[in-house]
Amino acid sequence: MLAKTPPMGWNSWNTFGLNINEEVVVETAKEFVRLGLDKAGYKYIVIDDGWSELDRDPVSGKIVPDHVKFPNGMKSVSDKVHELGLKFGMYSCAGTRTCGDYPGSFDHEFLDARTFAEYGCDYLKYDFCYMPRTANGPLMYRRMGLALKASGREILFSACSWGRDEVHKWIRSVGAHMYRTTGDINDSFESFRDIAFSQQDLLGYSAPGCFNDTDMLTVGMFGNGLVGTELGHGGCTDAEYRSQFALWCLFSAPLILGCDIRKLSPEMLALVTNKNLIRIDQDEEARPPIEQHVSLTSAKNRVYFKHLSGGEYAMGFFNFGEHEHRIRTNLTDFGLSASSGLKLTLKDAFTDEPFGSFTEYMNVPVAPHDCRVFIGRLENV
Ligand code: GAL
Repeated sequence: MLAKTPPMGWNSWNTFGLNINEEVVVETAKEFVRLGLDKAGYKYIVIDDGWSELDRDPVSGKIVPDHVKFPNGMKSVSDKVHELGLKFGMYSCAGTRTCGDYPGSFDHEFLDARTFAEYGCDYLKYDFCYMPRTANGPLMYRRMGLALKASGREILFSACSWGRDEVHKWIRSVGAHMYRTTGDINDSFESFRDIAFSQQDLLGYSAPGCFNDTDMLTVGMFGNGLVGTELGHGGCTDAEYRSQFALWCLFSAPLILGCDIRKLSPEMLALVTNKNLIRIDQDEEARPPIEQHVSLTSAKNRVYFKHLSGGEYAMGFFNFGEHEHRIRTNLTDFGLSASSGLKLTLKDAFTDEPFGSFTEYMNVPVAPHDCRVFIGRLENV
C-alpha cells in the first residue's frame, strides 16, 4: 500500500521554481543521504514544473525532457536517485499546459502516465492550471488516477487542485494518495499561519492511503526561494519554522521539504529530523488533533491535542501573537475529567526532557510566533 503514512520527501518548486536541472536534483539526492534525511523517513525526490521542452514531440506525442536542463534524459536522473535508495517524483498538470506554461496532460493522460512509468517515476504531482472551461476537475483526476494504475508501475498520485471542487470529499475515491487543500504557501509566518487556520474542518477527511496536503514546507528557506516571486522574499525565524513544522506534524500532513537541502542549517536539520515530531506526523492512525482556540488573547493562539497509537498523546501550544503568552488550557476539554484518577505525563518533543504531569489544566509560557510540543501518556495519579 502506498501512503500508509504521510509521504515525506523534497520538491524543487519552493527554491528553484522553473530553474530546475539534473545537477540540482542529483546533488539534492546525494545530500539527502549524507545528512541522513532518508533514515529519518524522507524518501521522495520530486521535480516540479519546468522540466520539459515547451512542446510535445511531434511524432510520438510524448512530453520531452528539456535537453539543456536534463541532457541525459529522465531515466538517467531517476536511476541515479534510485541508486541512492530514494524514490523519484515528477510533475504534470490536468490542464492543457502546466502553470509554468509547459505541456500539460489534458487528453494525453494515459500516454503520459506510461511515459512517467518508463522514466521509473514513483510519484506524480498533478496540478490544475489551464483547465478548459468545459472540463470537469473531478473527472480529470479520475482519468489520471486510472492512467497511473494502468501504467505498469506503482506511482504515488499527488493531486494539486488547491482545494477546488471540495476536493477533500471525492479525491480519495479517484485513487489519489495526497491532495492539496490550499493555494500556494510562501516563505512567511502569515502564509503558514493562514494555511493552518484554514485546515481544521478538512483534517477529518485525511487518513492512511490519502492525506490532506498543506503544501510543501518552507522550513529552512530563510527567504532564499524562487527568485522574482513571493517565495523569494521574507523568510521566517527559527521559531516560526519550528511552529510550521510542528503544525504539519500535528495535522499528519505530508512532509515535503522545499528548501535548498545543500544549504540546510544544523538547527533546521535537527528540526526536520526530530524523532518525536516525525513520530507524531507518521502515526499510523493519522487522527486529526482536537483544536482549541485560546480566546483570552486577541492573537488567536491555539492548543492542539492529538491521539496517537499505542496509548500516546501529543499536545501543541502555539503563540501566533507578538508577545510572550502563558497559554492556558483545561484538560477536561480534551476528555480528561478531574475525577478520572489519571494524570497526563508529558515530555518536551523538542528536547526529550520530562515536562511534568497534569490533571486539570496546563499553563504554558510560549514565546511569540513559537510553539511548545509535548508527547506523553495517561498514568494513575
Ligand atoms: C502551482 C502549484 C505549485 C507549483 C506550481 C508550478 O499551481 O500549486 O505547488 O507546482 O504550480 O508552476
